[in-house]
Amino acid sequence: MKVVTVVGARPQFIKAAPVSRCLRRRGTEILVHTGQHYDAAMSGIFFEELKIPRPDYHLEVGSKTHGAQTGEMLSGLEKVLIQEEPDWVLVYGDTNTTLAGALAAAKLQLPVAHVEAGLRSFNRQMPEEINRVLTDHIAQLLCCPTETAVQHLASEGIHRGVVQVGDVMVDALRFNRELAGDRNILEQLGAEPREYVLVTLHRAENTDHPDRLEEIISALNELESPMILPLHPRTRNRMERQGLTFTNPRLKVIEPVGYLDMLHLEMNAAKILTDSGGVQKEAFLLQVPCITMRDETEWTETVKQKTNVLVGANKRKIIEYVESFHVDFAKVDPVFGNGHTADRIVELLGKSGGCQQ
Ligand code: UD1
Ligand code: UDP
Repeated sequence: MKVVTVVGARPQFIKAAPVSRCLRRRGTEILVHTGQHYDAAMSGIFFEELKIPRPDYHLEVGSKTHGAQTGEMLSGLEKVLIQEEPDWVLVYGDTNTTLAGALAAAKLQLPVAHVEAGLRSFNRQMPEEINRVLTDHIAQLLCCPTETAVQHLASEGIHRGVVQVGDVMVDALRFNRELAGDRNILEQLGAEPREYVLVTLHRAENTDHPDRLEEIISALNELESPMILPLHPRTRNRMERQGLTFTNPRLKVIEPVGYLDMLHLEMNAAKILTDSGGVQKEAFLLQVPCITMRDETEWTETVKQKTNVLVGANKRKIIEYVESFHVDFAKVDPVFGNGHTADRIVELLGKSGGCQQ
């Protein structure tokens, strides 16, 4: 079995690490990095920490408009796929890298496996929603993290190749939790366990809408709790362009951190305030109350179980929930699988016979 794995953005490195480890025991993996993320703190650190093999191809596409970035990836990936003739092309999540990988493969009639298939926000304003819907409709193997994801695909008429495998981020967490526990980032930051709110903010639906960004930054500037914010470069850039600044002395703004430090910050946080997809899930798994600055979420199970609350970009709600949101995790059912999802994905790739499909 020969698989070309296409990654390019931070969360994809984290998701691909456990699968890559299993895959290389069973077959050949050719790893392609599109270069969508390229700063050391957004890319290199994950390869080092998670011991991800060096990419066989690096397309170095970098930051561009959606069309230019996706198009350049498509053209670079096509050359790689023609050269490598894999049995499968494996893509993760919902970024421009995901769509480019799936589309390049589909045009060459190569089978696509999509990890995190079937997620929906039902908000077509989000670039991620377009990417994931299109990818699901051209994939042959659709690895769904949850039952809800399977149902979404069924309602779009997609039944063939759909398997509920669980969530690979549980595997990543299982593998790295102990190592993360030993980090000393809190000491470095002079922060105390359970006495701070961990904040992340980067989604285009917030950063690319001046009103929303202004409202969120204003909430962060007024909150009374100590906070730690590893700041995504997109947000830094947008704030500069809009002339927004952080003025709250209780808010520690730091560079993006590696996965182990991030898990350490998450597992010791009193609460998490975020607009990230992956961070909402990690909050659930690590039993930290989560306040999500979005109007909808793909991870509806967390909201249904009342471990996560959606506050949009509403300053009053952000402040109210950061101060008052409490969760009883004793009542929560696990919904993201058993942490052996990577094995299951690789088994399916082996069984399905790739090109013969
Ligand atoms: C992308 C994904 C988003 C995902 C996020 C994970 C798309 C459409 N969006 O968003 O779904 O949640 O990754 O983090 O694919 N930048 C740097 N250095 C880097 C990377 C980015 O400075 O290493 C800056 C650039 O100014 C760039 C901006 O961040 O223009 C946005 O980067 P981009 O990859 O286009 O989107 P993300 O916001 O990272
Ligand atoms: N993450 C990290 N360092 C950070 C911020 C996030 O390692 O400074 C990890 C986080 O723990 C999660 C993943 O990155 O595993 C989520 O990625 P991100 O929030 O960038 O994207 P999304 O999940 O929203 O697509």
